[in-house]
Amino acid sequence: MLDYFFAHPFLVSLLIVGFYCLYVAVLSILENRAITRLGSFCPRIRSYLPFGADIVYRMRHHAHNDTDIDFWEWLFAWSPHEHSKTVEVALARRRWIFTADPENIKAILATQFQDFGKGKQFHEDWKPFLGDSIFTTDGQQWHDSRQLIRPQLVKNRVADLKIFEKHAERLMTKIGGHGEVVDIAALFYRFTLDLTTDYLLGKSVDSLDNPQTEFASAFAEVQKVQSLITRSGELSALIPKGAYFRGLKVINAFVEPFIEQVLRLKVSDLEEKPSQSFLDALAATGTRDCNAIRDQVIAVLLAGRDTTAGTLSFTFKELSAQPEIVRKLRREILEKVGSSKLPTYEDLKSMPYLQHVINETLRLYPSVPYNVRRALHDTTLPTGGGPDGSQPVGILEGTDIGYAAISMQRREDLYPPPSADFPPASQYSPERWDKWTPKPWT
Ligand code: HEM
Ligand SMILES: *[C@@H]1O[C@H](CO)[C@@H](O)[C@H](O)[C@H]1NC(C)=O
Ligand SMILES: *[C@@H]1O[C@H](CO)[C@@H](O)[C@H](O)[C@H]1NC(C)=O
Repeated sequence: MLDYFFAHPFLVSLLIVGFYCLYVAVLSILENRAITRLGSFCPRIRSYLPFGADIVYRMRHHAHNDTDIDFWEWLFAWSPHEHSKTVEVALARRRWIFTADPENIKAILATQFQDFGKGKQFHEDWKPFLGDSIFTTDGQQWHDSRQLIRPQLVKNRVADLKIFEKHAERLMTKIGGHGEVVDIAALFYRFTLDLTTDYLLGKSVDSLDNPQTEFASAFAEVQKVQSLITRSGELSALIPKGAYFRGLKVINAFVEPFIEQVLRLKVSDLEEKPSQSFLDALAATGTRDCNAIRDQVIAVLLAGRDTTAGTLSFTFKELSAQPEIVRKLRREILEKVGSSKLPTYEDLKSMPYLQHVINETLRLYPSVPYNVRRALHDTTLPTGGGPDGSQPVGILEGTDIGYAAISMQRREDLYPPPSADFPPASQYSPERWDKWTPKPWT
């Protein structure tokens, strides 16, 4: 019998493939039953290639083309329900849910916080870069990070604007010139790198003055590869990581001497230091673990830099096309601060138009436009399932949920009907905030 099979490799392969298909079929029947026991399915995206390769290809194409937002619109277009933007698809045998429904996002981030997290895979994928920091951990580890960082980011530590002023002044010297064209976004990214390194470590990388700093290029390269790793899921092993690890070496070699220097000081000396950096403040809590400190510093560097540079860039992009907004903003600045004095924290708090401008930027260009969480237990999402897309969705442990704040915040159907006071949601209009505040979650 065995001899017969070995003489016919074709039959053997056929048998193996057959058993594999049977195995997958049984597994998916069991999974479908388990999902149905918890809740419903959402509208399913059709894939025409095995493992959803066509969808992965489409996602990569849009990522390369800087048109992620169109990819997500394409995903949500699979929902036949007018007021539901929650869909699902199997990618490499894993079930993915994509959502831009406020009820579901609220559940993931707030009301069902315990059910969703980053998960072990994310922690592993990001470990070389962000270690065990606040961005890569769940549960107790996340909680510990939060306890450590939080006191360093409270008001009395961010209200000191001297450090902002120093780098803002340097930024201005790079803009100058009549009719000269500058890439303001590139300058903002250098500005916020200088600002955050100064704030965190007590020393700036000064990339505004030296655009080609090794640190800036290393940080950019590591972020680029890290994003590829995250998008590639199970296939991330195939991504070349040479530049990634070289970049990490540069980042660590820059940061570690500062940490070692701070750890040589006594807690009492650190507490008395007149101008404490974030790093000084962390070390003053008594933490002596160099790696733990490194992870938190890098995490806050990542968290604070791109968000701020992006928000500034999008604000200037909008202002450059709308001189009326510039005039109003300028008038408020001149009234509250004048043309020579430096603004104080209190000044900034008492400038409603400025706040409306920033709110309007974050509405159309949220700094974290897309994000992902993994189900940590079997659970449900409140809406998007069943025949009319309003039933709870069954979610098995390990299911990935991609959510798109940017798509949600651009949904016309979630806003008041357009009127004289309230332009269509797609329009950039700080004035809409005069008489409107979105309903908070809590
Ligand atoms: C325009 C400015 C900013 C926006 C819109 C923004 C937005 C966000 C969002 C949406 C998250 C949640 C991410 C997630 O759930 O995965 C987050 C987390 C975080 N951000 Fe920001 N951020 C900004 C600036 C900053 C700055 C300047 C810092 C610090 C200097 C910072 C520190 C953090 C930290 C530490 C977390 C993790 C919080 C946690 O997990 O408990 N962010 N931010
Ligand atoms: C890629 O980008 C170009 C220009 O930015 C745009 O015209 C084109 O439609 C995009 N293609 C896709 C598939 O999004
Ligand atoms: C800015 O947006 C937040 C979130 O929607 C809101 O709570 C706040 O009141 C807004 N600020 C102003 C000045 O309208």
